Amino acid sequence: MEVKLAEYAGFCFGVKRAVDTVYAQLNTGKKIYTYGPIVHNDEVVNELCEKGVIVLETKEDLIALTPLECENAAVIIRAHGVPESIYQLLEDKGLECVDATCPFVKRIHNIVRQKSEEGYHIVIIGNAGHPEVEGIVGWCIHGATVLEKPEEAEGFSASLDEKICIVSQTTFNYNKFKLMVEIFENKGYNVNVVNTICSATEERQRSAQKLAAEADVMIVIGGKHSSNTTKLFEICQSECANTYFIQTLDDLHLELPKAVRLVGITAGASTPNKLIEEGQNYVRINF
Ligand code: F3S
Repeated sequence: MEVKLAEYAGFCFGVKRAVDTVYAQLNTGKKIYTYGPIVHNDEVVNELCEKGVIVLETKEDLIALTPLECENAAVIIRAHGVPESIYQLLEDKGLECVDATCPFVKRIHNIVRQKSEEGYHIVIIGNAGHPEVEGIVGWCIHGATVLEKPEEAEGFSASLDEKICIVSQTTFNYNKFKLMVEIFENKGYNVNVVNTICSATEERQRSAQKLAAEADVMIVIGGKHSSNTTKLFEICQSECANTYFIQTLDDLHLELPKAVRLVGITAGASTPNKLIEEGQNYVRINF
């Protein structure tokens, strides 16, 4: 029986960089806070908390830190990025800021800042409640319009003289983005479109689908709250009926029939390599 890992699986570049940053900062001897959980994976977050990392869940948590709690402390900004106002808040509180914003997200901050300075109305195609989108909005000088569904693009209205700059959340679906941009163009708006979708999500989905199509059993590893892992699970399940969604090896109770020739493994963008390797070894040793 063969065990095969999807070509693209697990941490994307930006998340790996952010998690590595936390581990590196732990060696500095400072108190380490992360602004939000560094990654949507309980295993990783719990391990870091055991090593002393404190998660600030909200802006209010940051505001509430006492001068003593801010002494000799650093706050790590995760890959999603944050609004500009958070940097100011960190400075006001005398906290060191360690910025692990993914460079692809930082690029969007720079675009919306520059375009809003040039007088563009910024439209962000994405989910308004997602921290990445909240962060992007926080770099627009006069706010932004966030649209998630084609119906919302249909309902958008502004003067036709207005210059509009459209960007996207990095994990947004490309076909839906294209459709929404077309709605703007068909309505006659003067749009400047920057496709800021990151290829990491699509690469993971495409390679998971390819592997699931040839596998007899598929194992998808990831956090139960991770939307990209759930999406991977759905894609794999549509290609391979024997698809299992596990968070850790403890969830894996496989009874593999003798006829199984290929077990495929994939993992969400917030699943660390360690868990993926454990999964591969477990299947190799036990079956
Ligand atoms: Fe960055 Fe793309 Fe990951 S934007 S955080 S590398 S999904």
